[in-house]
Amino acid sequence: MGMAGLENSNSAPSASAQQSWGSSLGFVLAAAGSAIGLGNLWGLTYRVALGGGMAFLVLYLVAVVLLGFPLLLAELVLGRHTRRSPLLATVAVGGPSWRPLGWLFPLGSALILGYYAVITAWVGRALLAVLQGHVPTDQASADAFFLKLSGGWAEAVAYGLVLALTAAVVATGVQQGIERLSRWSMPALLMLLTGLLIWSASLADAPARYEEVLLHWRWSDWLDPHILRQAFSQAFFSLGLGSGAMLAYASHLGQREPLPQQAAIITALDTAVGLLAVFIVVPLMSTAAVGQHDGTGAVGTLFVAIPLGFASLGSAGPLLMAAFFFLASIAAVTSAVSLLEVPVAVVMDRLGWGRAVTTWSTVAVVALLGLPALLRTDLLMASHDLFGGVVLIGSGLLLSLLMGWVAPQQLREDLSQLPPPLLRVLLLALRWLAPLLLGGVLALSCVEIVQPKISLWL
Ligand code: PHE
Repeated sequence: MGMAGLENSNSAPSASAQQSWGSSLGFVLAAAGSAIGLGNLWGLTYRVALGGGMAFLVLYLVAVVLLGFPLLLAELVLGRHTRRSPLLATVAVGGPSWRPLGWLFPLGSALILGYYAVITAWVGRALLAVLQGHVPTDQASADAFFLKLSGGWAEAVAYGLVLALTAAVVATGVQQGIERLSRWSMPALLMLLTGLLIWSASLADAPARYEEVLLHWRWSDWLDPHILRQAFSQAFFSLGLGSGAMLAYASHLGQREPLPQQAAIITALDTAVGLLAVFIVVPLMSTAAVGQHDGTGAVGTLFVAIPLGFASLGSAGPLLMAAFFFLASIAAVTSAVSLLEVPVAVVMDRLGWGRAVTTWSTVAVVALLGLPALLRTDLLMASHDLFGGVVLIGSGLLLSLLMGWVAPQQLREDLSQLPPPLLRVLLLALRWLAPLLLGGVLALSCVEIVQPKISLWL
């Protein structure tokens, strides 16, 4: 079928969407697997611990409720309604002028996956190091530990292996690959997290640490544009909104799935895991250790502060640290899988290639796109700000306009079981709230990225 045929017909699923999920639960677990990732375990904890404290956490939760949930639901409707890959879905409901948004999804996802795979490789290497008994015991050896993880030829090999593993899952198919992985890994992750939480919260100075970090209240934080932007970007990245991942996953859903409930469960799971991680990590690490490593940003800091925290626990430390890095690896791989699925679905729809060929050729391109982040940590952080921040927020903004103004009919049809007042609130959120808030966050993000460069030139 040619492109025109695909765009006009709404009945048959397109090539990428022909496979479907084995069950509702399988879909929810896979979507939760996409959402729950290093953003929850690293990003949220780092920002809470580093100074945002209570204000950051509350603003983050506000962002999840006001923007995260409505946009997630809108993405699920768009995917399920059109049964198209992210590229064709936007065109199917909005016409050809929405094609640029369609392209933004695979492009953004591939660029995010490039640097995400680098961090995943570090997590994998940290796990391996702990299993071999290499646990840093003081600041100097922790610094050396991170430097070793993030350099040398072994880093490049680990990067290649992460991408190959991700591709192997995606190439195996929606049900046999992605769903099967999520079915065991998500419950395992939740169990490990709960175990670690019980242990961490019962540490002697846990109450004092919670108080110091979480109840830390400064009025100025609430109006700090930096904290505001971080909280909203964090919510977006954590749910994977604007990347097309949820859209791609929803294109394999049947028409009878209860999307609002599913969106609520996915949002709740993602938020709960983020909060669990905060409660696990806060008692473990000293704010001093976090502060000292601001230069390497969220990623580097936790690779130093978390091992040091575990090391301070004596003989149980290495085992608990292995559990933590193991669950971080699971979370990272299930997210990477969803990021790869986006460009793969688009290429399958565009070129009509089979899943395996498409996956392996796409992942080769992704490997090249991630090279700058592999070679330089500052470029990794810049990629995160740009692709994981600006690009995601930008496409989320466009998506809210598309679903709120251009295709509200699709929302009404697909969410007919929703009580009318709730539907009105959803439309209000998509039409006004999301564009206004996201527009503001986008402007703040651009200013924060450009400003340091300008002051360097002046
Ligand atoms: N949500 C994932 C995380 O928190 C990352 C991700 C972003 C996954 C975009 C899919 C799409 O780590």
